Amino acid sequence: MSRGKFITFEGCDGCGKSTQLRLLSEYLTKNGIEHIFTREPGGGKISESIREILLNGKNSEMTDECEALLYAASRVQHLADRVEPALSSGKLVVCDRYVDSSFAYQAFARGLGFDFISKINSFALEKYLPDCTVFFDLTPEQAFVRKHGADENDRLEQAGMAFHKKVYEGYKTLAEKYPERIAVINAAQTPEQIAKEVIQTLKAKNCL
Ligand code: TYD
Repeated sequence: MSRGKFITFEGCDGCGKSTQLRLLSEYLTKNGIEHIFTREPGGGKISESIREILLNGKNSEMTDECEALLYAASRVQHLADRVEPALSSGKLVVCDRYVDSSFAYQAFARGLGFDFISKINSFALEKYLPDCTVFFDLTPEQAFVRKHGADENDRLEQAGMAFHKKVYEGYKTLAEKYPERIAVINAAQTPEQIAKEVIQTLKAKNCL
């Protein structure tokens, strides 16, 4: 049996990833493509516990370095618990956020730098580089207009627009740096149009 493909979805908070995950799920199910959906941080028992620490509004004194290391730790555990078993059984894995989130949020926006984030994520980068990463290109201004019902206790939501602009610039830099792996999709279109482009992209990358 051939190994499954590993796909990741990336974008600023509120870029419409969740809707696209749902639409892709419908497509995969309809076409009988065996797959799993998972997310970061989280996706397994231990990684969901780490997620709780990371996204808990009460942990505002957490250092940027600690935050980056917890994302990396959660990632390693999640790869072992969910990603590897699915890939080795030939399933397609679709992961909502992955190492590019650490580059965009921690390296660029928090300013920890590309080298530090690469170093602490070397396991993921060397062994589990995605076959395709879809970046949903929507500016933070557009994303905030779209996003409703944001949880006020969410520490990351409080970080503000300046931070999210840096995240967005980080993603754009990553997409320029890795054009082979990262596909940029204009996320200001209708959900149906975006879904169509996602499927076309994944087919072109031999992931479907
Ligand atoms: P979540 O509620 O899942 O947001 P979204 O629906 O936008 O994906 O929260 C995940 C948050 O974690 C999001 O703000 C991005 C952040 N994050 C990082 O800062 N670094 C990372 O490595 C990952 C995986 C996520």
